[in-house]
Amino acid sequence: MDARPDLSELLLIGLDRGSPVPVLRQLYLQLRQAILSGAVPPAGRLPPSRGLAARLGVARNTVVAAYEQLVAEGLAEGRVGAGTRVPRDLPAIPELPAPMPAPPAATPVAQHYGSEPFNTGRTGWDERTQRIWRALTLRRLSTPDQAMFGYADPRGARGLREAIAAYLRAARAVRCDPDQVVVTAGAQQAIDLVLRVLLRPGDAAWVEDPCYPAIRAALEANGARLVPVPVDAQGLRLSPGLEPARLAYVTPSAQYPTGAVLTMPRRLELLAWARRTEAYVLEDDYDSEFRYAGRPLASLQGIDGAGRVIYVGTFSKVLFPGLRLGYAVLPPALLEPVLAARLRTDWHPATLAEGVVTDFLAEGHFTQHLRRMRMQYRVARDALAAALAAHLPGRLTAEVPEQGMKLLAGLAPGLSDVALAEAAAQAGVIVRPVSPMYLTAPPRQALMLGFSGHAPAALHRAARALAAACG
Ligand SMILES: Cc1ncc(COP(=O)(O)O)c(C=O)c1O
Repeated sequence: MDARPDLSELLLIGLDRGSPVPVLRQLYLQLRQAILSGAVPPAGRLPPSRGLAARLGVARNTVVAAYEQLVAEGLAEGRVGAGTRVPRDLPAIPELPAPMPAPPAATPVAQHYGSEPFNTGRTGWDERTQRIWRALTLRRLSTPDQAMFGYADPRGARGLREAIAAYLRAARAVRCDPDQVVVTAGAQQAIDLVLRVLLRPGDAAWVEDPCYPAIRAALEANGARLVPVPVDAQGLRLSPGLEPARLAYVTPSAQYPTGAVLTMPRRLELLAWARRTEAYVLEDDYDSEFRYAGRPLASLQGIDGAGRVIYVGTFSKVLFPGLRLGYAVLPPALLEPVLAARLRTDWHPATLAEGVVTDFLAEGHFTQHLRRMRMQYRVARDALAAALAAHLPGRLTAEVPEQGMKLLAGLAPGLSDVALAEAAAQAGVIVRPVSPMYLTAPPRQALMLGFSGHAPAALHRAARALAAACG
């Protein structure tokens, strides 16, 4: 059976009554073109004659006559009960356009985002969460509330903003009112919108060196001139000689990619700079929820009394990245310009996804999901560390993190992280090389390995494959 849907009723045909070309000929020519261009594919059905005649406001005989002409030319065939179809094998027609060259299956932009270990994007999703998610989705879809099906608030649904604000106040000590929250398509969109508003071409922006590549790309696309700021074990290291900047992009709770936590003295120093120079701090708190040891530091935003911090978070880590939901907590002065930029982009978030997440948070499932995933991820983290020690001793040194969903493994001297990542990809194992994330600081040869959402046995298998790829 042909799995393709029958689109014949949607076929684009229009008749011009004022044209000197007779209606029958217009119809014949348009159907012929539809067949030759592939709009109706080989073996595809032409619209039923009665329906097409009604749609076009012509006599059915006119449609039948056009079909008969196509049949006579071998461009269509009529069978009782099957309607009129395009033959499976079209005759060779000189005017048949050359097929468009097929685009490559993978391009540098549409990179590989599969789920193979040690892909870092993956999250856990157990049977219990799946069951709850299904029930909440059905309930939202069954609502008689028409608001769910129409255009909505560009800030995001009020209920979701309230739930996010309550969560951030409790878990991250963020100071926020639901009306400062803008729900976005992930942290990436939140940051891009803010950059569109804050940056003028050539504005300086401080970035951590090394830096998360996707946000570096967003900064550059928005005209920023990047000013690399080195990172050490205490996070971003400011120095008196740094040139002034409009903003600083930072990942204080777990620096990407090193994992360093920005210490309190450094936080205060950064906030003092922002206040003094009226710059903004863009706090990307992408990965603070899964802690396995030690005490987390509260958000930077929570200790800023001057409205200079823009806090950004995401559901990509705590739920799943395909959901495409994140948020920004904005200083009030930025709210209107960011919402204007949002309206120009995509109007508002998808209401069904918002509704489900609102209920998931408000009804307590989120906390339970986080608790279960934290346990699962800790087991996966330990399994990965053990697997690397077993299969790659002396070549990879794992730095077991106290939080998060990925670990960094330093390479023995002489090994190249880029070469190793390429060899591993050939074996179906996805690892991220860290050295390309450096701007000007001397790059470290290390791999970033995701463990969340992968079963311990799969992590062991992947470590073995990585060892084989290592040669
Ligand atoms: C540093 C950093 N920021 C933000 C994100 C999340 O992006 P999004 O919410 O758009 O999925 C990620 C995801 O990997 C990340 O590593």
